[in-house]
Parts: sequence; C-alpha cells; structure tokens
Amino acid sequence: MRGIVLAGGAGTRLHPLTRVTSKQLLPVYNKPMIYYPVETLIKSGIREILIIVAPDHAGDFVRLLGSGKEFGCRFSYEVQEKPNGLAEAFLIGENFIDNENVALILGDNLFEDTFVDPVRNFQSGALVFASKVPDPERFGVVEFDQQNKVLSIIEKPKEPKSEYAVTGLYVYDNTVVQKAKSLQPSARGELEITDLNNVYLREGTLEVAFVEGEWLDTGTFEALYQATTFIRNKVHQQL
Ligand code: TTP
Repeated sequence: MRGIVLAGGAGTRLHPLTRVTSKQLLPVYNKPMIYYPVETLIKSGIREILIIVAPDHAGDFVRLLGSGKEFGCRFSYEVQEKPNGLAEAFLIGENFIDNENVALILGDNLFEDTFVDPVRNFQSGALVFASKVPDPERFGVVEFDQQNKVLSIIEKPKEPKSEYAVTGLYVYDNTVVQKAKSLQPSARGELEITDLNNVYLREGTLEVAFVEGEWLDTGTFEALYQATTFIRNKVHQQL
C-alpha cells in the first residue's frame, strides 16, 4: 500500500494565518500539522509516502520533512499547481501509485486511531472512514443500512441522511487512477472525492468503516484551537 498526504489548498478560512505560510505547516501544539497525518500513515504500516503540496511553500515542506529517513520511510513530493480538488491527487500521483493500492489522507486531518488492520486487510474496491458529527451538512455524508452497506454519499447535503461524515482518509485499489481520469469538474470547478467514491458505489465496491477515536479537521480557527487543546491534553496525560 502506498500513501498520499494531500497538503495543497489555499487555507483561506485561516487568513491571515495562512497568508505567508501553508495551513499544514501551522503548529498543532508541539508539531507542525502535517506531522499528524504523516504519522497516521506510518503507524498504519505505510512506508512509501507522496506528499502533494501547493507551489508557494513546496521548499518548506521538503526542509521540514526531508527524505523520510528520520521517519523510517521514503517521502516523495509533487506540486499541485492549483487547488483543483482532492481527486486530482490520483492524477498527480499516477506514477507514484504505479501498480499498488493507495491510501489518501488530508494534510489537515488528525486521527487518534491508527488503521493497521484496514490497511493490512484491504484487497480491492474503496474503503472510506466515517465519524459521527454534530454538523454533517459541512461534509460528505454517508448513508448506510443495518449491514453497513453504503446506500449513498452526498457532498455537503442540505438535509443529511445520516450523522456520519466521511473523514479525510480513503483507501483505494489501483483502479482509482483510471476512475479519477473519468471525472468531470463539479460546479465549484473541482475534481470531487465524493464523485470518485460514487463511481465505486455504483460498481458495488465501496465499503465504510467507522473511526473510533477522535477525528479533527483543522481548517477553521475553532477546529485548529480544539485540535491544539486535544493534543496538549494527550501529551500531558502521557507525562
Ligand atoms: P479544504 O479545507 O477543503 O480547502 P483549503 O485547505 O484550501 O481551505 P479553505 O477552504 O479554507 O480555503 O481542503 C482539505 C484538505 O485538502 C487540506 O489539507 C488542503 C487539501 N487540498 C488540496 O491539497 N488540494 C485541493 O485541491 C483541495 C481542494 C484541498
């Protein structure tokens, strides 16, 4: 399994914090934000990781993370010229993915869980991870039946069909590259990960698992503050 950390984007909701740096380089208590998703992949058993960054701060990411040797794995880097959507990661990462399966994690998502078993046991299709949230309308929302069979995934629905948001970790088989190539940009001009997941859903190969620990998306001031507090409390518990 290869891993991709998607750490481009504009971070406009965090202006002015993100005017001269990238969101994923901002501190979350004692580490730059991107350490957390990188460590989630590593703790889940992934050793070959592609980091996709925006052009402006690409050098900073390389300076911060280097070759990956320090982390016991190998990092590669690619630039996403414009924030054209999450699913573009599979076009940018085509050569890196090669003939392997791939896990994508968003550079501003923090997971308390590790995903050793889902990564080890994954064979084919797509696997998304859902978490119960109070405000599902802000996310991709997954609807499923009593056997956890996915019925629908809808991006930012006005009337969510469940309380479960699709989190920023996705595992795909190698057909993801061809599927991503078939996508058309959405009304907001992005290649949508929800559209990609719907290709797998139509094929009958989309599965959902549930996040047990804390999941934090750090894209707003409030969420960034909460993430910092969460990590601080964890660090203090361990002292
Ligand atoms: P978002 O939080 O949706 O977008 P953003 O980071 O640009 O922030 P804002 O809405 O405040 O302008 O992105 C989620 C994650 O995905 C984040 O880590 C940035 C990354 N991303 C990319 O790398 N490329 C993209 O094209 C998009 C849309 C997001």
